[in-house]
Amino acid sequence: RQQEKEQIIKGHEFAAKLYHYFMGNTAEGKHALDYLRSRGFTDSLIDTFQIGYAPARWDFLASYLEKREFPMPLMEKGALVAAKSSGGYVDKFRDRIMFPIRDAKGQVIAFAGRTMGNEQPKYLNSPETALFRKSKVLYNFHAARAEIKRTSRIVLFEGYADVIKAWSAGVHNAVGGMGTALTEDHALLMRRNAEQVVLCYDGDDAGQSAAFKNLGMLLKAGLDVKIAMLPNRLDPDDYMEKYGPDRFRTEIVEGAVPPEKFKLLHLRRNFNLQDNEAKLRYVRTAIREVIATIESPTGREHYLKELASEFSAISSFESMKQEMHEIREQQQKKQRYGDNNDISWNNVRN
Ligand code: GTP
Ligand code: MN
Ligand code: MN
Ligand code: MN
Ligand code: MN
Repeated sequence: RQQEKEQIIKGHEFAAKLYHYFMGNTAEGKHALDYLRSRGFTDSLIDTFQIGYAPARWDFLASYLEKREFPMPLMEKGALVAAKSSGGYVDKFRDRIMFPIRDAKGQVIAFAGRTMGNEQPKYLNSPETALFRKSKVLYNFHAARAEIKRTSRIVLFEGYADVIKAWSAGVHNAVGGMGTALTEDHALLMRRNAEQVVLCYDGDDAGQSAAFKNLGMLLKAGLDVKIAMLPNRLDPDDYMEKYGPDRFRTEIVEGAVPPEKFKLLHLRRNFNLQDNEAKLRYVRTAIREVIATIESPTGREHYLKELASEFSAISSFESMKQEMHEIREQQQKKQRYGDNNDISWNNVRN
């Protein structure tokens, strides 16, 4: 079994080299290289991440693997190729930009293939195999490890392109969560290696909802979480192309906000704060759902003050504070007696 795994890894390492070589050195690969360059990927970045191109042929990789006498049933098991019913093998990836995915040791165990056109899916990932456990792999973890250890911090992205551009911007503790489906295993892996995670998800609705959803899980794993806020629905890669790497590092990553602040900003998206009635509804909801639930008294005071100074036209700090006290009393009662307001015999016992 161990030997099988090694063979499958060798197949992946070979494929990564072949795809990379093909993109940089053939006429057929030129348009893929041009595509990456037009998106701001430098040649040295393309080399560092060994990005490549799988041509639009049926058996490009399969025929090379056969020529080099790789055991094809294993290559199929590793999901590099698929067996044809008529015999022989075909490639899994065709006409896609290829991003090798490495395990914690830095060995290639899977690929993500991006289309250059509008085909679906935009990213085709290798399926789960004995080697590729999606719920446990973080993109770029092996390379980021040293910086993660040094800083005790991980900067987590949704996308492969985001991780690579962040790396080139000097964010060397950048890892990717393989899309937005972050698992508890991912959270525990991060907790074992760092104290803090900076969530750097896309600024669009999908990214922000995912950040909101994953925030709870990361906090539960015991991580100190900060959330980077991207303007105008940009993703980190878009932001860097538009405003440059320095601004990304200093304003977006270093400017990441604490969970409470993020929750308030997130909540705000649901309110159209044009009229006083909506403002009042926002203030009430913010107090109830975010500020009243903060554990530390100084934390509650801080965010309440911020809210009061922004919305001084519709409510005073004192009346907001009064409202928060009432809400907290209700919430504490609920915790003590359960949601039911009648005192049941079970509760009377204590
Ligand atoms: P670019 O368009 O190349 O900049 O990629 P992106 O990372 O900005 O894409 P997007 O924000 O749409 O998606 C974020 C991440 O989700 C991607 O990097 C992938 O990991 C994942 N993802 C996106 N689309 C798909 C898909 O169609 N299938 C799968 N399996 N994953 C996807
Ligand atoms: Mn090269
Ligand atoms: Mn997105
Ligand atoms: Mn994106
Ligand atoms: Mn993008």
